[in-house]
Amino acid sequence: MDSQSMQELKTPAPSISRRAAAMPFSSIRRVFQAVQELEDQGIQVIPLHIGDPDFELPKRIGAAISTALAEGRTHYSSMPGIWPLREAIARHVSTKFGIDCDARRIICSHGATQALNACLHLTCDAETNILMPEVYFPNCLQQAMLSNVHPRFYPLDDTYRPRLETLGSMVDDHTRAILVNSPSNPTGAVFPPDTMQALHEFARGRGLWLISDEAYIDYVYEGQYISPLQFDWQLPENERCVLTVFSFSKSYAATGLRVGWTVAPREAEAVKLGLINEPLTGSLTTPLQWGITSAFETDDTEERRQILKRRGQLVVDILKDHDIDCVPAAGGMFLFLDVSPTGLTGEEFARDLLERERVAVVPGNGFGQVPQFLPDGRVEFTPCELARRAVRICFGRGEECLVEGMKRLARFFRKHCTIGAQT
Ligand SMILES: Cc1ncc(COP(=O)(O)O)c(C=O)c1O
Repeated sequence: MDSQSMQELKTPAPSISRRAAAMPFSSIRRVFQAVQELEDQGIQVIPLHIGDPDFELPKRIGAAISTALAEGRTHYSSMPGIWPLREAIARHVSTKFGIDCDARRIICSHGATQALNACLHLTCDAETNILMPEVYFPNCLQQAMLSNVHPRFYPLDDTYRPRLETLGSMVDDHTRAILVNSPSNPTGAVFPPDTMQALHEFARGRGLWLISDEAYIDYVYEGQYISPLQFDWQLPENERCVLTVFSFSKSYAATGLRVGWTVAPREAEAVKLGLINEPLTGSLTTPLQWGITSAFETDDTEERRQILKRRGQLVVDILKDHDIDCVPAAGGMFLFLDVSPTGLTGEEFARDLLERERVAVVPGNGFGQVPQFLPDGRVEFTPCELARRAVRICFGRGEECLVEGMKRLARFFRKHCTIGAQT
């Protein structure tokens, strides 16, 4: 066909897939963009939005990566991850949880993000549904939408723990899995052992998978932590239903290395997860796997836990000093603050706080969008109330930055309460 007849056809550009069109916005990215624009103008911002602590990568990990590169370990690795890393993880998991886990049940992944995605593919077919907390880590909703899996949101109470009594009515023949995230991003909630046990019993009783996202496992500040994995491994192997996802990102200040892993209940699921990794990532970066294998050689997570615990307490103390109520983070590195006493939504609060006080936090609505699937294929999102009224504050930054940021935030909060009271 010559170029003239090509032009006469006037065919419009092809449309993108419905799934891609329906992808929900990321409120985190929007804040990043807004901060970047201000910084480009030379305006300094206090960054309480970044979910990446200011810790340095432990030296031994960097050194081991350099060694791997120097030794030419730069070729493809096996799909489930290099064997020494899987072995090191299996030993770590066995000691931490008091179970007897061998390396064949460990599958490494490109961060916990990809592990969660692989678990979703392993457990849920298109058009089936998965139960998720109504306030969640946003990548999980995006993953469900991309896989055509329908999320159903289980309600949380005012302390961001699941309302267990509501779960039963949410399950039907198409429900495949329940997703649990404790310690939680963004709420900082840690589910107590009896809640974990109840969630595990619920999943077992209904024939569901329980996908447990434990990216913040090493940062628990209050109470005892028990993973659903521990209940599951008391059962005979053929009755287990828990897939547990972990990450090196937060525990070892290694967010950019992108390594996480899943503990599968049986070898069969581990093999499948490895297979699912193939189309998702090809294989993991080899030198980084050799590097991260050294992570467990020294247990320095306790040091970081203590620092984060102190920072979390600092945030709560400053809010208390200004008579602002909050649910302290029992784990993780976020505080989910209800800003409704100011008369503003989380979105408005975050926007105005950035504009007037130059403090960046993330509006809660990005962590609680409920999709509604319209007959014409479009999807509309409405935030749940817990998310709409909140902002997420990250306490991963240094104390000086936190104190200044929180003072400005508290002042802004109080000022708006006063305005609200006068009108
Ligand atoms: C709750 C939760 N799960 C999983 C992840 C993903 O972690 P990774 O960096 O290992 O992909 C994050 C990252 O922020 C998270 O907050």
